[in-house]
Amino acid sequence: MCGIVGYLGQREAYPIVIKGLERLEYRGYDSAGIVLYDGEKAKLCKTKGKVTDLKGKAESENITTGSIGLGHTRWATHGEPNDVNAHPHLSNSGNLAIIHNGIIENYGSIKKELEKRGYTFHSDTDTEVLVNLIEDIKEKEQVKLGKAVQIALNQVVGAYAIAVFDKSKPDEIVVAKLGSPLAIGVGEGEFFIASDASPFIEYTNNAIYLEDEQMAIVRLGRDVKVRQIKDDKSVAAYVQELQLNLDQIEKNGYDHFMLKEIHEQPHAIKDTYRGRLRTNEGIIKMAGIEDNLEKFLNANRIIIVACGTSWHAGLVAEYIFEDLVRIPVEVEYASEFRYRNPVITSKDVVIAISQSGETADTLAAIKLAKQNGAFVFGVCNVVGSSIARESHAGAYTHAGPEIGVASTKAFTTQITLLSLIALKLAQSKGMISKTEFHQYLAEMEAIPDKVEKVLLSDDHVKYISSVYKDVPNFLYLGRGYNFPVALEGALKLKEISYIHAEGYPAAEMKHGPIALIDEQMPVVVIATKKGHYEKVVSNIQEIKSRKGKIIGIVTEGDKEVKSMADYVIEVPETIEGLTPLLTTIPLQLLSYHIAVMRNCNVDQPRNLAKSVTVE
Ligand code: AGP
Ligand code: GLU
Repeated sequence: MCGIVGYLGQREAYPIVIKGLERLEYRGYDSAGIVLYDGEKAKLCKTKGKVTDLKGKAESENITTGSIGLGHTRWATHGEPNDVNAHPHLSNSGNLAIIHNGIIENYGSIKKELEKRGYTFHSDTDTEVLVNLIEDIKEKEQVKLGKAVQIALNQVVGAYAIAVFDKSKPDEIVVAKLGSPLAIGVGEGEFFIASDASPFIEYTNNAIYLEDEQMAIVRLGRDVKVRQIKDDKSVAAYVQELQLNLDQIEKNGYDHFMLKEIHEQPHAIKDTYRGRLRTNEGIIKMAGIEDNLEKFLNANRIIIVACGTSWHAGLVAEYIFEDLVRIPVEVEYASEFRYRNPVITSKDVVIAISQSGETADTLAAIKLAKQNGAFVFGVCNVVGSSIARESHAGAYTHAGPEIGVASTKAFTTQITLLSLIALKLAQSKGMISKTEFHQYLAEMEAIPDKVEKVLLSDDHVKYISSVYKDVPNFLYLGRGYNFPVALEGALKLKEISYIHAEGYPAAEMKHGPIALIDEQMPVVVIATKKGHYEKVVSNIQEIKSRKGKIIGIVTEGDKEVKSMADYVIEVPETIEGLTPLLTTIPLQLLSYHIAVMRNCNVDQPRNLAKSVTVE
């Protein structure tokens, strides 16, 4: 994710664009930039850091005048966060400027072609490739900017919300959308472009939200012309009158960032496998693994170090790695690993999982691992974060900024990425049949829609939450791949609703926890068809016979657990190893609704920080 802002009109663009970027910083903030056109020249200012850093730099360089402007607050996907990789990016001629939210998957091959044609690149980004592709087409075909953008976008694969400006035609901005949001604010003799309406809602509440595969020519003195990218055909521009306030816009209409991020998971999972999952080719593309394949395949063991929710994702990874790749895996709390004088050798691969990439214990753990000769692979969500930079190699989840302190989309995108890594290693080791491999790839592609389906049970989960919002304790049980999900569900509930909750392997009940069961104790049992179903059913019977209350997470159509449980929440069937991506969703919603009903501060729970950068 990131924030894009554009202005075209009679006013000074600078204050509008800068304030708009400040409003969009929640969408990503590792670097920022602005380009302004004052009728003579296009002035560019970019910097690593936040919008405040950009403001300071722009004002010290007097880049503040002009009635046309494009601004960007970046959440890097390709290229470290730094001044050069920040947007806007200029074409080689300097005539075209672009800002982009998204990922161009095939930028590498396009870049090679352009380099053959003499183009040079200053940044490591996919975006700079796109603006030069547009310029190349514009020059070669001798077409206008709009047409060049339309042709170029039919050559790229990926996701984008872009705004492109040509300083030789300073009365228009061309925009286009696929997979990332883009809104056009329609004012009196002025236009605004942004990732959402927050940058322009105070100037106009008339907005056009482009649909996927649509583009638009925004030109002074004319109505917005919306066209289809694939065939350049015009489509009606639907101008809607917005009734949202600023706070509602930032949360995309949701009451809390956590709920917004729970509902972003289908998109985030798709963004995480985008460009990596090549189902048609039957491959998984991941440079960080390909470049270090021998280290993984010759490893004596894989040690996963993480904290909190990321540690739970590591437990899921342990099951899938050992199941598919047959390499021994150990999952360690980073805080314990770093102090217990562990045995680490050069035959170990250490995978560090961290959403923020700044967790002090995890960072210390990988430094210890490196000192002892291990190969360290980072799985982070924040590009250029400390853990990412400290690791020998790595891969990023593309979850976008996670604002809510309680991790949700970070968890599911971590599992997505780790599943892809396990599948790639299993294929490289010849441990998985072609058929099974293809089944996994196809099923992974089906997961976002299945997550969407689970999210439709939100009202049902909300009702269940109302029944149990005042209990003092919860128990969460799961087996196999769903044991880590039980732990994660318990963590979610306790960290945002302050209700005590524990997660256990279901079979552990008879080793103590069953003493807790009475009619006051709700027990969430993950009982999907795949994964020791019959044994979980007998665990449910044990609980029922002691009057425990059962909330079952079941495979859709399940009748047996349904006949025993007080409530069930259904999830679609999937491959056992991917079940956590679905079974965790109802648990996220349950904890969210209970916390809201208990008037807890869902996005910033007491005593917690989003990133634990201290010991
Ligand atoms: C989980 O909801 C919490 N936010 C917390 O446990 C978190 O997962 C943990 O602090 C690790 O953070 P990281 O992924 O940024 O390293
Ligand atoms: N892929 C582009 C980059 O890495 C855009 C990332 C974003 O959406 O901020 O610069």
